[in-house]
Amino acid sequence: MGRSALTRVVLLALALAAPGQTQRGPVNYDEAKVPRYTLPDPLLMASGERVTDAKTWVERRRPEILRLFETYVYGRSPERPAHLSFELDSIARDALGGTAVRKQVSVRFSEKPDGPKMDILLYLPAGARRPVPVFLGLNFNGNHAVHADPGIALSKQWMRNNPAQGVVNNRATEKSRGSEASRWQVERILARGYGVATIYYGDLDPDYDDGFQNGVHPLFYKPGQTRPAPDEWGSIGAWAWGLSRAMDYLETDKDIDARRVAVMGHSRLGKTALWAGGQDTRFALVISNDSGEGGAALARRKFGETTRAINTAFPHWFCANFKQYNDREDSLPVDQHMLLALIAPRPVYVASAAEDLWADPRGEFLSCRHADPVYRLLGTDGLGATEMPAVHQSVQTTIGYHIREGKHDVTLYDWERFLDFADKHLRKQPRPNATTAR
Ligand code: GCU
Repeated sequence: MGRSALTRVVLLALALAAPGQTQRGPVNYDEAKVPRYTLPDPLLMASGERVTDAKTWVERRRPEILRLFETYVYGRSPERPAHLSFELDSIARDALGGTAVRKQVSVRFSEKPDGPKMDILLYLPAGARRPVPVFLGLNFNGNHAVHADPGIALSKQWMRNNPAQGVVNNRATEKSRGSEASRWQVERILARGYGVATIYYGDLDPDYDDGFQNGVHPLFYKPGQTRPAPDEWGSIGAWAWGLSRAMDYLETDKDIDARRVAVMGHSRLGKTALWAGGQDTRFALVISNDSGEGGAALARRKFGETTRAINTAFPHWFCANFKQYNDREDSLPVDQHMLLALIAPRPVYVASAAEDLWADPRGEFLSCRHADPVYRLLGTDGLGATEMPAVHQSVQTTIGYHIREGKHDVTLYDWERFLDFADKHLRKQPRPNATTAR
């Protein structure tokens, strides 16, 4: 066998052994190999007109960018459904050793008794004399995983198997209680005067590619429709939509100050938090933790995860139109700094982890930097750094940023900085104009 034939056999064997590896394309971790790129200018209208005042941004450019993200990246999501309903399933005023009030609320999206619903778990500081600000975020492993509290209902939803964390036969078991607790720091959040609201993301759409037959998508199919159109929502869209539906509930709860809700998420749920905050201006503050590709990281850098890689491994996350941009990031009409700009002038915090190169920490920082002109146009102090800060140096201007040491995760360090940021920016946050509340 000639050498090239041998090479071909070896390549074929590799391709069969790890099809995802080859389909996902090359992955670059070398800063010197980042291609030259030109970012779309958030302050330049598609017509070529330059945006020089806040009014033009709010009324024309922001809606234009929102449409681009809907059409080409995350897909368009439906409005609040007519039959949204909330039911308080339980309330405990003596939770967590008397330090917290625990509520569990069911949210139904339709009148169908067996239709999808989501369960909100809410902890509020006990004895609060006035409505409290809240951190809202989706969780990966079920509400019962964010704390070992036995009073939390065990999720009955489909979950990815993880015997070490007590998930077997795609269902949670008692062993999975508290398995995600280090990522939530409930006691710390309560001690600093905030509430926490969380929902299992699989309540909205189980995280696997089933052609959008389960989860909330089918509720909105037109007669004869069997999957979302190329510019309609994928799973990230559905998860973000669920955060807006949670906000609908929070607005009705008198123990909560709905004008001070921070939406937060890690990784795929960080992408989701940014997209939720970008669309729904009722979120007063937005936090992205290690959100990476399709989140805070600039796609054009092609550092770590790429558009091809994410669309290959997770074909259901984005809208079908997004697949056109595999290997063609430069043709995207947006980049992720424009997602941050959709949040302006509301405070946004981006957190990276030094060892999380797959998420491209530098690309996450650069998104903040390139969103800065929009934040400044709208009268804020933008991002108070032009160079990437050193590890554990938190920037706390209206665009906040830190990189901490360690891996892809949410840690106590991250939460302490989010809490500092919320203390600074949420305390007296006026109600944002609900221009595009969905
Ligand atoms: C994968 C994926 C990332 C995502 C991460 C997560 O690594 O490639 O885009 O952020 O999962 O959600 O944990």
